[in-house]
Amino acid sequence: MKRIGFITSGGDSPGMNAAIRAIVKTCCYHNVEAVGFYGGYQGLVENRFKVFSYKDVNNIIQVGGTILGSSRSDEFRVYKGRQKSYQNLIDLGIEGLIVVGGDGTLNGGLIFSKEFNFPIIGIPATIDNDLSGTDYSIGFDTAINTVVESVDKIRDTANSHHQIFFVEVMGRNSGFIALHAAIASGAEMVLIPEESTDLCVLAKRLTDLNKGERGSIFIVAEGEEYGGANSLTKKLHPYLGDFEVKTSVLGYIQRGGRPSAFDRILATRLGVEAVERMLNGEKQVMIGFVHNQISSVLLEKALLRNHNLLGEDLLILDKLLTHCVN
Ligand code: F6P
Repeated sequence: MKRIGFITSGGDSPGMNAAIRAIVKTCCYHNVEAVGFYGGYQGLVENRFKVFSYKDVNNIIQVGGTILGSSRSDEFRVYKGRQKSYQNLIDLGIEGLIVVGGDGTLNGGLIFSKEFNFPIIGIPATIDNDLSGTDYSIGFDTAINTVVESVDKIRDTANSHHQIFFVEVMGRNSGFIALHAAIASGAEMVLIPEESTDLCVLAKRLTDLNKGERGSIFIVAEGEEYGGANSLTKKLHPYLGDFEVKTSVLGYIQRGGRPSAFDRILATRLGVEAVERMLNGEKQVMIGFVHNQISSVLLEKALLRNHNLLGEDLLILDKLLTHCVN
């Protein structure tokens, strides 16, 4: 191969720049041209690209977001857009594409690779950590640290006023961020999409807790069954009456910021490996990090919705820790 393309797509996550840096440096090492497309799949459709050199990726490992920009491209979702993208790649002499992102990005890559028999390698990068075939995706570690830092601050207020807080965290349909952040911040309870909670039981828990002498934190995943912190509060109203629960939606603060050392190292390892494997002829796979080893898994498998993704041990741990409150 003489030219490899790469994009970052979907929701940005801290560490994407470290992956870009690793891809470009590894390409340079092998004398292969690294062509970055701007704005995710939309950049492929519109043929907005730049051939990257070593110096273009200096001083980016510590920066959050993605220097390439990202998008959720509607044009790429339809065949016409993908066909245009394929033609652009062929015209530029690009022989393989590395896609950095979450499930939407990898799914787009899978469809594209099947339609045009084009070599695609995925790198998992999403704060949600909801992909099979990797223990961690780029950005998850930074995001849970951001959440934990924020919850620690909210707890100061909760304790000072003996109040109960619902803190809503991201994660789309997955409770990964919520569960990990709840354990790390010592939350009194966590509500995640993977588990069901009875409103009556929840209301009792809240009123019991309020008899204690300190504040309490409930971590609420945005995708849980009642629709997140604000909607949950409304649905609890008939059970709680005037009993006050404060809500705090953390929002996009979770996606930004300087990547943690873990995310930088993970992104670097995955980026290097993606180029190496592409040059060795591997395709239609996602590079993963499993049991402390870099590995690869078919894109189809990476996209399987695995209900055990959260890990039974963590769910049990959470129950143990939140069983005896006060
Ligand atoms: O996938 C990352 C994520 O931050 C999810 O946790 C969240 O549901 C979603 O992206 C928000 O997406 P958007 O940027 O389109 O609002």
